[in-house]
Amino acid sequence: MSEQRAGILSIGAYVPERVVTNDDMSKFVDTSDEWIFQRTGIHERRFARDDEYTSDMGIEATKQALKRAELEPTDIDYIIVATASPDNTFPNTACWVQQGLGMGDIPALDISTACAGFVYALELAGALVNTDAYKNVLVIGAEKLSSITNFTDRSSCILFADGAGAAVITKTENRGTVICSRNGARYDYDALNVAAGGCRRPASNETVEKNEHTIALKGRTVYKFAVQKFYEMADEACKRAGISSDDVALVIPHQANVNIIESAMKRAGIGMDRVLINIDRYGNTSSASIPIAFDEALAAGRIKRGDYVLLEAFGGGLSWGYNLVKW
Ligand SMILES: CC(C)(COP(=O)(O)OP(=O)(O)OC[C@H]1O[C@@H](n2cnc3c(N)ncnc32)[C@H](O)[C@@H]1OP(=O)(O)O)[C@@H](O)C(=O)NCCC(=O)NCCS
Repeated sequence: MSEQRAGILSIGAYVPERVVTNDDMSKFVDTSDEWIFQRTGIHERRFARDDEYTSDMGIEATKQALKRAELEPTDIDYIIVATASPDNTFPNTACWVQQGLGMGDIPALDISTACAGFVYALELAGALVNTDAYKNVLVIGAEKLSSITNFTDRSSCILFADGAGAAVITKTENRGTVICSRNGARYDYDALNVAAGGCRRPASNETVEKNEHTIALKGRTVYKFAVQKFYEMADEACKRAGISSDDVALVIPHQANVNIIESAMKRAGIGMDRVLINIDRYGNTSSASIPIAFDEALAAGRIKRGDYVLLEAFGGGLSWGYNLVKW
């Protein structure tokens, strides 16, 4: 008798229309297409309109996911939005989504683990579904990073972008099953932070003048940490599931830097032909990058029923996590 377990019923994605190329970036910081592409793998990214917010993008991705699941907004009984660029501190972004889609008075939760947000949200959604506390949990990764990017810092502003992805998590029978997940965090303020806007450093003229409401990062520190974590997580996920890295049909990593991904995958013994890369077109969309890439992999027919798909991410905190999915 097959057991029903939490699985991904459907995925949807949305990216804004406006394409910003590396040449466009070189109009306001001293950089070049060649430098950006060689160091990161990025050619272009998408920026949202001024009047287009994180929740709007999350809603668009959700509409697609719901349509594919043949569900109505009112069939959802819990919303989790992973984001580092929320519409407001409160109401949280999940409340904006709830209101925008007319979902009724269901629980609405934001998760703040930066680029690791989606893998955290998926683990939590799986737990809520597996304990029968909720039936259909909506997980969204959505970001308007262009609103918290320091456009005077050439080593960071070339990375970040906007977009959203959504997934419906429900109990399924051997379909999109989340086999195992693990999340972790280790405090490291200097590696990656947004310094101001919280109670430690409330907004003031000074914080605005110093660009402290935008992302600050120590790229080299994060780079080394990420290579090591991506490798360790791939190794651990396979061991826990009792499979070899050869059995992983596709890795969908957080799209932070193609060179990080290549180094880690080489160490894990996973060829790049089994890794989804779309950073060239979308840049780093933080918690949205995995569901956007997952959606693309499905559309391109790169995942078949029964395939093992490994999702892994790292981000500010520092935080990290993976989900191994049997599609
Ligand atoms: C951010 C990142 C691309 C920077 O690449 P890097 O190779 O570490 O580059 P560095 O910051 O050490 O800079 C190297 C040189 O390039 C220059 N440089 C930095 N950004 C540049 C740009 N956009 N264009 C041209 N030159 C640039 C620096 O000034 C430096 O010059 P110098 O050697 O004369 O001092 C890379 O570290 C990275 O991807 N890190 C991890 C990703 C990350 O942190 N993501 C956010 C969280 S998910």
